[in-house]
Amino acid sequence: MEIVKQMLLLLLCFPCHGMGTTAGSGKDKSSGTFDVKDFGAKANGMSDDSKAFLAAWDAACKSSGKVKILVPSGTYLLNPVKFSGPCRDVQTLEFMLQGTLKATTDLNKFGDGEGWVQFGRVDGLTVTGGGTFDGQGAVTWPYNKCPKEKNCKVLPTSVKFVNTNNTIVKDITSLNSKFFHMALLGCHNFKGSGITITAPATSPNTDGIHMEGNSGVTIASSKIRTGDDCVSIGHGNSFVTISGITCGPGRGISVGSLGRYKDEEDVQNIVVKDSKLIGTMNGVRVKTWANSPVKTSAINMTFENLVMRNVGNPIVIDQTYCPYDKCDNSAWSKVKLSDIHFRNIKGTTTSPVAVTLKCSKGMPCEKLSLHDVNLQHAGPGNISSACLNVKAEYSGTNNPPPCE
Ligand SMILES: *[C@@H]1O[C@H](CO)[C@@H](O)[C@H](O)[C@H]1NC(C)=O
Ligand SMILES: *[C@@H]1O[C@H](CO)[C@@H](O)[C@H](O)[C@H]1NC(C)=O
Ligand SMILES: *[C@@H]1O[C@H](CO)[C@@H](O)[C@H](O)[C@H]1NC(C)=O
Repeated sequence: MEIVKQMLLLLLCFPCHGMGTTAGSGKDKSSGTFDVKDFGAKANGMSDDSKAFLAAWDAACKSSGKVKILVPSGTYLLNPVKFSGPCRDVQTLEFMLQGTLKATTDLNKFGDGEGWVQFGRVDGLTVTGGGTFDGQGAVTWPYNKCPKEKNCKVLPTSVKFVNTNNTIVKDITSLNSKFFHMALLGCHNFKGSGITITAPATSPNTDGIHMEGNSGVTIASSKIRTGDDCVSIGHGNSFVTISGITCGPGRGISVGSLGRYKDEEDVQNIVVKDSKLIGTMNGVRVKTWANSPVKTSAINMTFENLVMRNVGNPIVIDQTYCPYDKCDNSAWSKVKLSDIHFRNIKGTTTSPVAVTLKCSKGMPCEKLSLHDVNLQHAGPGNISSACLNVKAEYSGTNNPPPCE
């Protein structure tokens, strides 16, 4: 299931083509507010409003100064849409979503790897307004074969940000995505807060927020209840801070899986803090492929002030990830993990092995520390740590006790 996450990497440039922005945007166009209803949106939840949205975007993008696209309350049915820049004379562009956008359930409308609503190549975009992106995923979840098949067709991600700079996403909801709820690809300076993500625990691959190749991302004060990772930090990310997240149901907050493809880039300077994980399959996790094709690294990652309630595997480092039984015993992960710190992590675990630190035998983890990790078994019996190829530094309280 982790496998599909790296596919986005390959699709990164897909959206760069055919973005449809006409050259020579007119400086004479007035700035101000662009209401999708003035561009023909019906807001009846049944007729396709995509054209009206694209026309409103186009007009806003060609205007200048501080611009707002208004989506008043109401329900708007949308096919896949790409809102693309550059918007040359626009200083800031606010996408004020007060209504609910509903995705078409017809998968034939989506190109290969295409997302549903995509914002690309814009600088200074704010998406806010208290509205909802409803992926209507329940209809299409049965067609998702990715949990079982390696070469599966990836279903559409609900909201994608591709190569954007200085983006703010605030006070919006993503409901029942077909696949990932949100993906951040190649963005610089992205601030998300007040994001509510909701899908059933059983929905396949409905990761909350997935990211690849970004720098300067903060995600704060958000509630994520979904069927897969609440937040997943893929390759090529640096300076990512995740805080104030309430995660669960879901599979926790993960870095990885890293080290599957040749062209992956390093991960560095990651902080996950001040968050709660409730009833999740994992807590915080770093995962790399056992048979990575090239050397990369993931360094300087801190996981602190976390509360776990009935979490399956609260702390996991796993460098032995090898699905499909294709790795021989000599394979070892070439993703160098170093400078990784777990601090002040408490709460309850439902599995007896509460801390797993399995590092690469060819490249053992370095500078790995655990300080004040205090977990209790939700059931009867003691809890333990499992370690491989690692010498961790322990301080403060340590329950489970360190590996011998
Ligand atoms: C974003 O910033 C990068 C680096 O400064 C720049 O190369 C790129 O053109 C910018 N993109 C947009 C859409 O402004
Ligand atoms: C580690 O990451 C944090 C958070 O991004 C950053 O503030 C700090 O400077 C980094 N430390 C080093 C040594 O790069
Ligand atoms: C559980 O841990 C306690 C304290 O370390 C120890 O005395 C006890 O024997 C352990 N119980 C089991 C079943 O291992």
